[in-house]
Amino acid sequence: MKVLALGLAMSVLAAGAAYAEGDAAAGANVFKKCASCHAVGEGAKNKVGPELNELIGRTAGTAPEFKYSQAMIDAGAGGLVWTAETLHQFLSKPRDFVKGTKMTFPGLKEQADIDNVVAYLATFSPAADAAAAPAAQ
Ligand code: HEC
Repeated sequence: MKVLALGLAMSVLAAGAAYAEGDAAAGANVFKKCASCHAVGEGAKNKVGPELNELIGRTAGTAPEFKYSQAMIDAGAGGLVWTAETLHQFLSKPRDFVKGTKMTFPGLKEQADIDNVVAYLATFSPAADAAAAPAAQ
């Protein structure tokens, strides 16, 4: 049991560290690939894809008034929550990670691009700051 608890604590730390690893400024540049379909920041509205404010810690498929695929709704109902780790998996190969998603974006090949875009999105997610803060000390 102790080992399991330690493993959990370490994965939480690792998730925090992942935000710290990414470069939010570089991530803003990566986000240009997403911006045709997604908005983030003050006043962001749903476009082809849902707005991405407060994404970290959000259950998949729950942005108000966005018409998700049944696949994304089911993923959220099944417990999928967006964290650095799940975003890494999703953004590497969206259609492998959530089979049946209507996000047609093929994915980001470079791990650094994913780190950076997650760090950028985390700046619009107060919950991510809370998660990253202990790791940063
Ligand atoms: C061609 C349009 C398009 C592009 C480009 C695109 N997305 Fe998406 N994205 C969507 C759509 C549509 C959905 C909703 C998927 C569903 O309902 O299955 C979505 C869903 C998502 C979700 C899940 C959100 C939620 O509320 O559960 C995340 C996270 C996401 N996209 C991030 C990104 C990022 C980051 C990029 C750029 C690297 C990107 N997307 C590029 C169209 C796009």
